[in-house]
Amino acid sequence: MAARRGDPGLMRHARQAWRALLAFRLPVIRPLAAALWGIAGVWGRLWPLFLKILYREPMLRYRCARVGVRLQLEGAVPQIIGDGTIEIGDDVLIGSQNTWIVGFKVSTAPRLLIGNRVDINYDTTISVADYVSIGDDTLIAMSVQIYDNPSHPLSPVRRLRRESFAIDEARPVMIGRNVWIGASAIILRGVTIGDNAIVAAGSVVTKSVPSNTVVAGNPAKIIKTLED
Ligand SMILES: CC(C)(COP(=O)(O)OP(=O)(O)OC[C@H]1O[C@@H](n2cnc3c(N)ncnc32)[C@H](O)[C@@H]1OP(=O)(O)O)[C@@H](O)C(=O)NCCC(=O)NCCS
Repeated sequence: MAARRGDPGLMRHARQAWRALLAFRLPVIRPLAAALWGIAGVWGRLWPLFLKILYREPMLRYRCARVGVRLQLEGAVPQIIGDGTIEIGDDVLIGSQNTWIVGFKVSTAPRLLIGNRVDINYDTTISVADYVSIGDDTLIAMSVQIYDNPSHPLSPVRRLRRESFAIDEARPVMIGRNVWIGASAIILRGVTIGDNAIVAAGSVVTKSVPSNTVVAGNPAKIIKTLED
């Protein structure tokens, strides 16, 4: 009864016990800590390797029409939405937390083509209603977004009705060879990026980019031409 009414003596003991618990530390037994540290390090490398070999890579190979040799999958299988065709070349690196939407209700034959030796960093979004291609040796930094479609109808009435955009509103995105797309850049529908071009970090690319140029800003404009 006393405890239920909040006996001040009991509460004081409880507070002291709680503070003692918060202040409690185990002594560091160095050989034991070293062994645990080593085990954690080995486990931290082995477990992702097991996941990759036994589950992640087979799942991706099952889902894609083609995955070339020596795939490097840095994290989980990309979240793939839609049933469109995906082809991945040789020596491709795919970072973690990728989202690829390949196919919408209105799509007829959506295709995502990723060339050889392409790096796609983490947190990249690729949205394909019709066609997106990424040329050989292209580097895509983290948090890049690529859309070949408007995502939603421009018409307010159709959006209110939660209707899809029409397939003729999708326009292919074609990214050339040896392109470097900087972090958080956004590539919008209908854009072609020429070989060797660079898209600066944070750019919003609304118009096609000539080969051997550097574009930056929102909307992205040419800031440099590359000599070699
Ligand atoms: C594209 C990039 C390499 C350009 O570098 P650079 O050629 O040295 O460019 P400069 O610093 O000479 O800048 C040239 C002009 O472009 C502007 N500029 C450069 N990068 C810009 C950007 N991301 N957005 C807007 N403007 C930019 C500069 O302000 C400068 O403008 P000014 O002439 O009016 O002063 C660099 O800006 C970039 O975006 N790197 C990508 C980094 C990245 O994403 N890393 C992730 C890991 S891969």
